[in-house]
Amino acid sequence: MDTFLAIASKRDTRRYAERPIPGDVAERILDAGRVAGSARNRQAWRFRVVESAERRERLADAVYAPDNVRGARLVVAIQSSSAMDVGRCMQNMMLAAWNDGVASCPNGIADADAARAALDLGEDEPVATVLTFGYPARERDPESRPAAEWSARADRKPLDELVRRI
Ligand SMILES: Cc1cc2nc3c(=O)[nH]c(=O)nc-3n(C[C@H](O)[C@H](O)[C@H](O)COP(=O)(O)O)c2cc1C
Repeated sequence: MDTFLAIASKRDTRRYAERPIPGDVAERILDAGRVAGSARNRQAWRFRVVESAERRERLADAVYAPDNVRGARLVVAIQSSSAMDVGRCMQNMMLAAWNDGVASCPNGIADADAARAALDLGEDEPVATVLTFGYPARERDPESRPAAEWSARADRKPLDELVRRI
C-alpha cells in the first residue's frame, strides 16, 4: 500500500473479526516497532505479546476500554518511559499492521500498577501503551478511495488551523 494512503486511511478500530492474524504478519508488526528510530538510538522499549488468557483479562481490567483487549487477536504492551520514542514505535506497528489489512487501537492505561503486575514488570518498568490488533469486524478497503479523499474525510482539524508560517 502507498505510505500516504496507509496513513490517511488508518482509523483506530476497536471491534475485531474472529479471523486470526497469521504469524508472519504478527512478526512484521513487531519488527516495524523494532526498527523505529529513538533518541540516541537507545531503543528503550520492550514489547510484551500477551498470549495468556489470564494475563489478558488482568490487563483488560487495567486499561480504559477493557473490551478492546478482550476482543483483540493480538495484544502488544509497550514498556518504556520515553513518550516520543513510544509514539514513533507504536505508530510504526499500527501502520505496518494496516498495510496488511490489520486494524488497531492504542489503549491508555487506567491503572498503572495493575498493568505492570499483569505483565510481570517491575516498578521502574512503566507500561506506556497497550496496542490491540485484529482484522476489522466491519471491513474497510483503503484502496476504495484516493488518499486525498480519506484525508478530507478524517475527523481532524483543518491544516490552516494547525499551521502557521512565520
Ligand atoms: C495516547 C493515546 C491513548 C488512547 N487511548 C485510548 C483508549 O484508552 N481507548 C480507546 O478506545 N482509544 C484510545 N485511543 C484512540 C483515540 O481515541 C483515537 O486516536 C482518536 O479517537 C482518533 O480516532 P480515529 O483515528 O479513528 O479518528 C488512544 C489514542 C492515543 C493516541
